[in-house]
Amino acid sequence: MNKPLDIIFPNPPSGLAPEALDAARIPEHIAVIMDGNGRWAKKRALNRLKGHKAGIEAVRETIRCASDLGVRYLTIYSFSTENWKRPQEEVVGLMDLFAKTMLAEVDGLHEEHVRVKTIGDLSLLPEETREAFEEAWEKTKNNTGMTLVVAVNYGSRQEILRAVNRCAEEVAARTADGLAPKEFSAEDFERGLYTAGMPDPDLVIRTSGEVRLSNFLLWQVAYSEFVVTDVLWPDFDRYELLRCLLEFQGRDRRFGAVK
Ligand code: IPE
Ligand code: IPE
Ligand code: MG
Repeated sequence: MNKPLDIIFPNPPSGLAPEALDAARIPEHIAVIMDGNGRWAKKRALNRLKGHKAGIEAVRETIRCASDLGVRYLTIYSFSTENWKRPQEEVVGLMDLFAKTMLAEVDGLHEEHVRVKTIGDLSLLPEETREAFEEAWEKTKNNTGMTLVVAVNYGSRQEILRAVNRCAEEVAARTADGLAPKEFSAEDFERGLYTAGMPDPDLVIRTSGEVRLSNFLLWQVAYSEFVVTDVLWPDFDRYELLRCLLEFQGRDRRFGAVK
């Protein structure tokens, strides 16, 4: 933990006890499916984009809190390979929001020693958005604090196919060299995933009450703990994160073994 609990959680609502958190069992990797921006906006008779904008504050708070708690990896699902199906205005607005937010936040993230990384196929993003992510990565790549992993144009099936194709290319190259085809291990396969070198998520949080993965990290969540909260993403804050962490710490992880 990088800060004392009473500094990280200064005003806990009654009934919520930050001191119940076990500092020795903070997840190394938290992955968040940020959902419910549209419903948050609809409840207020606002345009969906206003919901996405409101969600930025929740992202900021979650990053700061996770970093203060000593989480090593925080992955945020920001745009899926299926989200292109949304109305053009929303897609354009989201891409613009990603670019502007990344540019505005990168210095602050750098000061907090956060390392920014992306997973997903950036080649299909508008140039401005792609460049904002690339510049953030370039600026922060040597930082040793928390790694913030932004999943953008990310889809797990696409990622798995990409890894399979990399294995197939290796087989073709070996065949061309007259070598025997090789049997790939899980580690060989994982080298072709966007998440290569990262630990699997310990905890997956999904907001807005939806209980599904929506094509997120299918391979990597084989033994992750899932916590679903009804809170809509723009209303998510450090205290809701604390509730999720306490639920996580109450789980008994067995990884298929007997305890
Ligand atoms: C999540 O909120 C943000 C993205 C997928 C980019 P939604 O936009 O999915 O919000 P709902 O599910 O419509 O409420
Ligand atoms: C998942 O949310 C994708 C992101 C959070 C980026 P969606 O709102 O797109 O998922 P579905 O359509 O409800 O499954
Ligand atoms: Mg949604």
